Amino acid sequence: MRSKVRYQLLDPSAAPKSCRFLWLFLFIVACCIDPLKPDERNPMTYEQVMKDLRNEIDQRNVMINELKKDFEKMELKNELKNLYRRRPETEHVDCGRVLTGDKSYLDSVSGKNRVKIVENDNLNMSCAAIMNRILPAGSVLKPLKHGVAFARIVYADYEMIEKQVQMSYHSQNTFCFAIDRKAPAKFHERLRAMAACLPNVLLLPDEESVDSAGHNINLAHYNCMRALINKPGWNYVILLQNHDVIVKSVYEMEQIYEWLGGANDIEITPEGGRLDKKFKWDPKSLKMFRNETGINPTVLHSKMKFAKGAAQGSLSRGAVDWMVRTADLTTYIEQWNKGGFGVDEQFIQSFQVSADLGMPGHFTDGCLKQGKNTDFVSRMSQWKYGGADQCGSKTIRHAICLLGIEDFRTVAAYPNLMFNKMIPSFDYSIVECTAELLYNRTFLGQEDHKLEEDYYTNMVNVLYHKNHLDPNFKLECKPTYKRWAERQYPL
Ligand SMILES: *[C@@H]1O[C@H](CO)[C@@H](O)[C@H](O)[C@H]1NC(C)=O
Ligand SMILES: *[C@@H]1O[C@H](CO)[C@@H](O)[C@H](O)[C@H]1NC(C)=O
Ligand SMILES: *[C@@H]1O[C@H](CO)[C@@H](O)[C@H](O)[C@H]1NC(C)=O
Repeated sequence: MRSKVRYQLLDPSAAPKSCRFLWLFLFIVACCIDPLKPDERNPMTYEQVMKDLRNEIDQRNVMINELKKDFEKMELKNELKNLYRRRPETEHVDCGRVLTGDKSYLDSVSGKNRVKIVENDNLNMSCAAIMNRILPAGSVLKPLKHGVAFARIVYADYEMIEKQVQMSYHSQNTFCFAIDRKAPAKFHERLRAMAACLPNVLLLPDEESVDSAGHNINLAHYNCMRALINKPGWNYVILLQNHDVIVKSVYEMEQIYEWLGGANDIEITPEGGRLDKKFKWDPKSLKMFRNETGINPTVLHSKMKFAKGAAQGSLSRGAVDWMVRTADLTTYIEQWNKGGFGVDEQFIQSFQVSADLGMPGHFTDGCLKQGKNTDFVSRMSQWKYGGADQCGSKTIRHAICLLGIEDFRTVAAYPNLMFNKMIPSFDYSIVECTAELLYNRTFLGQEDHKLEEDYYTNMVNVLYHKNHLDPNFKLECKPTYKRWAERQYPL
């Protein structure tokens, strides 16, 4: 740091400012006396005044530059102690450089240089150590108007799961975990330790076995909803699976859900002929309403509507309250669970399009009838049937791109809340860089991309939710904006 005396020189209350005016005054006087023929006897010649002024300015610029450098150093020092903490294997990855689109740098951390997680078998699971990883002392979070609830089905990669809690941590947010019964004992143990440590982490006691055909997925999410509805403070729940990574900061999530304004965010595509016709699907047969008094008999005895989409989605608190307290979806879930494939992809969708059932934040089947699907932002996945070359990471699994560090710019830019999926044993720098990005947005106040307010507020389901009770409302199924799925990928 430089000497105090020099800083005092620039103190606005001290001499320099008035001196500058004096020079300026003299300069004007000099000009006025006789601008064409400066007085030879006067030592204050026009040229001299100019020269002195220039000198003065030069000296000042030097000082200003030195001061600027000092301030930059001070800021850097402050930031250094608040910078995002990396794990050793990703320490060398410069996420900022990837974010700016430095392609040659990207080569040095992708392909054969891709960084995989090096698991820590001796992770310190004391409460103090967990807390220190999730919310280090000195981290300050602003209060939220509304928190968010996360309902996640998990079975592997504890360190990544804990990272997820860290990335979305806020004392007003709530995290519910349903563990697959097949998960290793150590995974169970670690999750139990986290749940015992943090009051806003809930671990379901009843464990079912989930599989890739979707069996028990809806049940696990529903059980989380039943636990979450007793927790105050959140106004939306997002349904998630193990390797889904939230890519918006806690403040951004709060803002986006405020823009959705109570509308559920659910992907809607046509039901794919999976419905088992040997069962009855009307609310009466499904024992759907806990209290049938006051329910329109036509609704009660009519087959509900069906649609298909991602098991992930966002539900308003009102919708969850309805699903848990007004309705009882046990029979509905059981009937689907007896199916063979993709049995989890009709759950939230069907309630979302069955407007007559009256779930808060619902949508309609009106767009399906027009042959149009409905966009959602809760999940981003890249379905590629043309092969791995279309993926940023050039790697694909079950027709969905595995995300790698090549996807980082897309992560930062897209309007989606969550990206599916990142596998730590395939590429961990994408997880760490996403965590750093959210950290920078949350704790350093950085804004790398402004949220697209127009996107969220003009979604078809959002406009429907806001206006459908207006008799003049006309359902417009084609959004006015360019859907994320039609955008360039990868960026
Ligand atoms: C996060 O902020 C730090 C400090 O400004 C910067 O060096 C780093 O590149 C940023 N990372 C990302 C992903 O924006
Ligand atoms: C675990 O972390 C806590 C808190 O940081 C510390 O007090 C304790 O000594 C650690 N235990 C081990 C075995 O390192
Ligand atoms: C069932 O609903 C009716 C009409 O809404 C209401 O009057 C009645 O009290 C409810 N019954 C119970 C047991 O909640």
